[in-house]
Amino acid sequence: MADSNINHATSLEYWNSVAPDVNGMLGGFPQISRIDLRGSSSFLAKIRRLVPAIPSTGALPLGVDCGAGIGRVTEGFLSNVCEVVDVVEPVENFARVVREGPLKKAGKVGDVFVVGLESWVPGKEYDLVWNQWCLGHLTDAQLVAYLVRCREALSEGGVIVIKENMSTASDGQDVYDEVDSSVTRTDDKFRMLFKEAGLNLIKSEEQAGFPPSLKLFPVRFYALRPAT
Ligand SMILES: C[S@@+](CC[C@H](N)C(=O)[O-])C[C@H]1O[C@@H](n2cnc3c(N)ncnc32)[C@H](O)[C@@H]1O
Repeated sequence: MADSNINHATSLEYWNSVAPDVNGMLGGFPQISRIDLRGSSSFLAKIRRLVPAIPSTGALPLGVDCGAGIGRVTEGFLSNVCEVVDVVEPVENFARVVREGPLKKAGKVGDVFVVGLESWVPGKEYDLVWNQWCLGHLTDAQLVAYLVRCREALSEGGVIVIKENMSTASDGQDVYDEVDSSVTRTDDKFRMLFKEAGLNLIKSEEQAGFPPSLKLFPVRFYALRPAT
């Protein structure tokens, strides 16, 4: 199994060697950030119309940006739709950018937890748990256990959103990347793990608009709520 190769020390070593800027967060494609953030905003708007328990307008009280890096998503999107955003990020170099940034001073960023998601235990109720381009660092078993903890930490109308690259391997399997010690999962694998975690997939769609010339992986959104 691809995920049996995951080594957290190797991942952290890799991320510690990466510049704490948007270029570093996006693997040398900073130009996709705007399209990415716009796509996220429009996906969340659709979710808010779908889930009657979430007020369809106004800021959500508390969000959390998981595997946040320097807080690119918090700055460009989550802080516009949440009153306060907590941040979880294991690399101190990246967490420091958030902790010392203007959004923290303005009170838009709440707690900054410097820890890997495999070890993070949410201690609050969240209205939105945003996971983007980081879940490949968790093994399948860690991901399921983490999603169970997130499910239990959701507020009444709370939603978990996952936005990740999709494996395009011709054998239909997850692919291990030894550069940052992560896996790129298939859509089928994600859906199987969501079920195991007791989550209901309420909407999924592909991010549109990335320039084809960049030959990026397809990127997919998933919105999840506790299964009833
Ligand atoms: C590709 S960057 C994405 C950052 C941010 N989500 C964004 O979209 O701009 C991947 C992030 O995952 C973080 N990461 C690595 N291992 C992790 C782990 N075990 N748990 C949570 N995040 C991790 C890295 O430090 C890095 O900040």
